Amino acid sequence: MLKVLGGETVFPPPLWMMRQAGRYLPEYRETRKQAGSFLDLCYNPDFAVEVTLQPIRRFGFDASILFSDILVVPHALGRDLTFAEGEGPRMTPIEAAEIERLGEGRDFHARLAPVYETVSRLRTELPKETTLIGFCGAPWTVATYMIAGRGTPDQAPSRLFGFREPEAMAMLLARLSEVSAAYLIRQIDAGADVVQIFDSWAGVLDEASFSAWCVEPVADIVRRVRAVHPDTPIIGFPRGAGSLFAGYRQRTGVTALGLDWSVPLSQARDLQAQGAVQGNLDPLRLVAGGRALDDGVDAILKALGGGPLVFNLGHGITPDCPVENVERMVKRVRTAQG
Ligand code: CP3
Repeated sequence: MLKVLGGETVFPPPLWMMRQAGRYLPEYRETRKQAGSFLDLCYNPDFAVEVTLQPIRRFGFDASILFSDILVVPHALGRDLTFAEGEGPRMTPIEAAEIERLGEGRDFHARLAPVYETVSRLRTELPKETTLIGFCGAPWTVATYMIAGRGTPDQAPSRLFGFREPEAMAMLLARLSEVSAAYLIRQIDAGADVVQIFDSWAGVLDEASFSAWCVEPVADIVRRVRAVHPDTPIIGFPRGAGSLFAGYRQRTGVTALGLDWSVPLSQARDLQAQGAVQGNLDPLRLVAGGRALDDGVDAILKALGGGPLVFNLGHGITPDCPVENVERMVKRVRTAQG
């Protein structure tokens, strides 16, 4: 994985899956029941280490991603957060007037200490050849949950907020960039080999807003992280960015591009000419299995296997995915002929 992120071609390519620790695994559901709530799982290093290792034991992925959530960052800044069973995250929507004092009087890193402990224990417990990925949400994506108080289909509340209150939005994103960079730096200090920045809602913005709210804050994070850890690869994942993927690597400084499944493989090849790409199987091909899965895997390997590729899904695996389909995908990638 590290060779590929450095620009080398490795075939068959290294592979892992976004959301690889999760509800599609019976052992995850069992640990989650023991932990009580989802946040207890994130903040208890015993449980968090266990669920992070579960997919590695089962499938032997080349990379392991820290088990946590992007919303622990606003939580550590003092915003309330709950995960209602089967409904996703809930927060009290932030108001413009609250942003200036966001996080004041809170010991951000002390609240996130269990996450750092999870990372360092993982680096000790994982096989040496398994890459450990740390992560954070990109400021825009984290802000959408803080502003709307929940996930929405098109992030209308946050787009409107940004258009009506541009200064408050700029202040919120700047604050999130600063703390997210500090958070990633601590994860790397604790043993993360690579970090990924999830901008899951990048795809709902017009060109100017994409530049101001996605590109600039991520570029700021990359600058801050590189100032301390110049050699740690950074994967950017601006989901749904479409034609705005072109230029994203250069403008933000990320090492590699995570591609969602809507990116045509011909465009993915062009993006690969500048460095590593990661992706981009439709997670529903994995749910369907059979021919749909095999064809999807083969098409990606054929188009992108001749350059630096990290095989992955185009977004997270869904809870209804049959475990045997994951086994089939891993086998197909690992036994592919170049
Ligand atoms: O990939 C991994 O295995 C690492 C763990 C991880 C989780 N969330 C665990 C999780 C990572 C990297 C995330 C990132 C995350 N969290 C993102 C960005 C990536 C993406 O999927 O777009 C976002 C937007 C969130 C916020 C979030 N967390 C939502 C919207 C939800 C609810 C959706 C759902 O699937 O239920 C969560 C909950 C969540 N985060 C779960 C897991 C395993 C399910 C919680 C449960 O067990 O009940």
